This record gives sequence, C-alpha cells and structure tokens, in this order.
Amino acid sequence: MNLGPPMALLAELTHRCPLACPYCSNPVDLVRRSAELPTDAWASVLREAAGIGVLHVHFSGGEPASRRDLETLVATAAKAGLYTNLITSGIGLTEVRVKILAEHRLDHLQLSVQAPEPDLANLISGYRNALPQKRAVAGWTNRAGIALTVNAVMHRANLDLLPQTIDMAIELGAQRLEVAHVQYHGWALRNRGALLPTRAQADAARAIVDEARARLTGILRIDYVPPDHFAQFPKPCMGGWGQVGMTITPEGRVLPCHAAETIPHLSFETVGSRPLGEIWTDSAAFNAYRGTDWMSETCRACSHREVDFGGCRCQALAHAGDAAATDPACERSPMNKEFRAKAAADPQAEFVYRRFTA
Ligand code: FES
Repeated sequence: MNLGPPMALLAELTHRCPLACPYCSNPVDLVRRSAELPTDAWASVLREAAGIGVLHVHFSGGEPASRRDLETLVATAAKAGLYTNLITSGIGLTEVRVKILAEHRLDHLQLSVQAPEPDLANLISGYRNALPQKRAVAGWTNRAGIALTVNAVMHRANLDLLPQTIDMAIELGAQRLEVAHVQYHGWALRNRGALLPTRAQADAARAIVDEARARLTGILRIDYVPPDHFAQFPKPCMGGWGQVGMTITPEGRVLPCHAAETIPHLSFETVGSRPLGEIWTDSAAFNAYRGTDWMSETCRACSHREVDFGGCRCQALAHAGDAAATDPACERSPMNKEFRAKAAADPQAEFVYRRFTA
C-alpha cells in the first residue's frame, strides 16, 4: 500500500478526569499523574509530529484541561503549524483560560455533552452541575472566536432526548454536532447492559438525524456514528489501522488506535525511543493490521475490504477473541448472530462509574 504521513495526532495528555462516564474510552488501567510526559517532552513530540507531516493535533484525555501546561502546548503546536483541537468536558476551563487558549491559536474546541437536561447529565457523568459549566464554556468559546463542535455520546439513557440535544447544540452556537453511539470495548463493555439502546431507539435516532440534517443545512453540520449492533457492515474504524492517525498516551506510548493496548500480543514503542516517523512506518504494532494481507478470508474476499478495512480490531478482539477476525458487527462475520444477540438492553442494569484515583 502507498503509505503517506499520519494526518492526525491524538495527544492524550492525561487520564485524569473529573467526570466518571460509564462509557469512558480510556484504558481499564489508567496512567497515574506521576507517569505523565512532562511539558518539554510533549513539546518535542508536537514539533516532531509537524515535521513528519501531521496536520492536526487533537488534545484529549482524560480531561486535558487538568494539565496546567495546556496553554503552552497549544501555543507550541500552533507555532509548529498544526491545526489545534481541544477535546474537553469543559470542567477546569475558565473564561480567562479560554481567552488565553484563543490567543495561543486554539483553532477548535470539541465540547462533550452528556444530556440536555441537568439531572440526567449529572446521572450520566457522575458529576454534579456539569451542564451550567458546559453552557458557560460554549459562550466563552464563541466569544473568543474558536470554532465549536458539540460531541454527544448516545446510549439508551439519553437517546430519547436526541431532538433536544440537537436543539441544544444550536443554542450553544456550535457549527457541528457529533452524535456518536457508544463503542462497546474497554470500560463501556462493563456497562453494556445499561447503555445498549433498543432497536426502536436506534431506528428513531437515524430518522431524527436525517430530518435534522435536511432542516439545518447551513446552520449545523451533524456527523452520525451509528450503533454497531444494528449495522449491516462495520465502521472503517480509525479510517483503517495505521492509515490516518496516531495516538500518544499520557506516558508517551505510540498507538495506532486509542484502544490498541487492549490487544495483548502487540507491543508499543515510546516517543523518544526512535523518530516518530520511523515508528509510524516501521513499528510492528502499526504494521500489524495495515493493508489487507492480515485479513481473514471473509474480509479479503469482500468488496468492502477497502471501504471499512475489516472494521474495528479492538471490537474483534473484545467479542471474537481475535483481533484479526472479521469485526463481529459485520453481517458476514461468523460471530455476527451472537454479537447481535448480545444487543439486548438490560433494564435492571445500573451504571458502573469510571473514577480516576491518582
Ligand atoms: Fe481500536 Fe477500533 S477502537 S481499531
């Protein structure tokens, strides 16, 4: 395959987070604060990434605003020529910090919203009074001239409020709304029974998004990530393994996907051990599922193989026990029936919250 440079870098600055969302996408074993890369190491990574052709950096976590050097890192990235995006819950930001981030050339802010209604937002996030803070952050962001996306992770508890979530994104002044169903691996797998939507909810969500897209053309762009359990084919997870972007963990491990550490036989290199460009092109972990050679016969013979790239490797591991298996979300997977059968919501299940303890 013709491999270009990575387009995007997901910089997971920290796993510290004040929220306790039951679908947290961070690894089950969180990196402690004492093991996080220091400011100068992150600054080198950002300059190196720009040097090999990365175009965007997404500052993420955990909650990246938990890092006091966030403003410095944004400034470093912007100076290196990277488009800068901050993925945040909004907790830990102040009006002054947002102004400084804008002065340091933060281009875009992606604000997570758990629900458009305060009690439900508290229940989902395991955090009291997050919603007023998010409204304030959206206002500061707009006033500072930073582009705003609202990011809504959807599941059984908030899907019925999707129309109100869309209204709220407009009210907050977002240019874009990402409506993404939960991915069921890592911590979210523990909460699958409590989070899985019903088929009726998933069908209604699709219709609501289609209607809103037509009605809100030119006002709000809506990106939609449908639920895997009711899909015919899997998503092209990560735009294809090792094809579009790289993730760097708080302690500096370089991953092809934010959840790649769930795949036990892969080992990952660390920033500084050799040039980032070499890790991208040569490391065993990045090459493990690139292209089509690794695919099972089912995927290799499929006309979608260069469309969805066999789906999600982490989901294949979590549900089929083999990261090289056809994603069980695919109707052609031998595991698909079983995968769908597990899509039964459990009305009795309660959230198991994700709490960071330093
Ligand atoms: Fe890792 Fe999909 S989440 S490949």
